[in-house]
Amino acid sequence: MIDWHCHILPNMDDGSRDVAESISLINMQREQGIGTIVATPHFYANDESCEDFLLRRQRSFELLKNQLPDECPRILLGAEVRYYQGISRLSNLKDLRVENSKILLLEMPDTKWTESMVRELIEISSFGGIRLVLAHVERYMPIQDAKIRRRLLESGILMQVNASFFTEFFTRHKALSHLKNGHIHFLGSDCHNTTSRPPNIGKAYEIIRKKQGEIYLSQMNDFGHSKLFTV
Ligand SMILES: [Fe+2]
Repeated sequence: MIDWHCHILPNMDDGSRDVAESISLINMQREQGIGTIVATPHFYANDESCEDFLLRRQRSFELLKNQLPDECPRILLGAEVRYYQGISRLSNLKDLRVENSKILLLEMPDTKWTESMVRELIEISSFGGIRLVLAHVERYMPIQDAKIRRRLLESGILMQVNASFFTEFFTRHKALSHLKNGHIHFLGSDCHNTTSRPPNIGKAYEIIRKKQGEIYLSQMNDFGHSKLFTV
């Protein structure tokens, strides 16, 4: 199973503080049945250039790589890219895709989106070589106009939700209903640390397996390998 969104790289963002914490997070993910971890540190274009971010990410990963446990899940490098108006013109946007794939994980603002923002998402989704995935959509989709989700889905934009959407009692029913309706494609733990925001993704996958069956589980985990990865 895949964790599509997490902050396990040491000292990259507000996630793991050091290698020891990263190893603890990875062990927790492995114990929960995760075989592939997509590491998605925050990228804010206001704060640094894309080149600097990628260099910093590589250094962070090198530190971790030497100390990874045996039977470690596969780790793919990606980013949680913060949206800003005009991001479609960022020249190296493709460099922020998840390693060996077309996937670009984009974090949208928790506000009502304007028509020009929606159009920009659709424009990015038309770029060859990019498959746009919106991060933790449960946070901001409920406040958007009703037709926006359908327009985005029809443009081929994919949706990621956090595991807590399924594990929390008050949102579980809604999460399962969105899954059945084809509104959810990827699951991420969005873990940041071992205490206040630990990985809880195994439980979410288990809920999906129990309530929806194996077919949904394999669809969510097969997506990447069959269609979106280039190697
Ligand atoms: Fe995140």
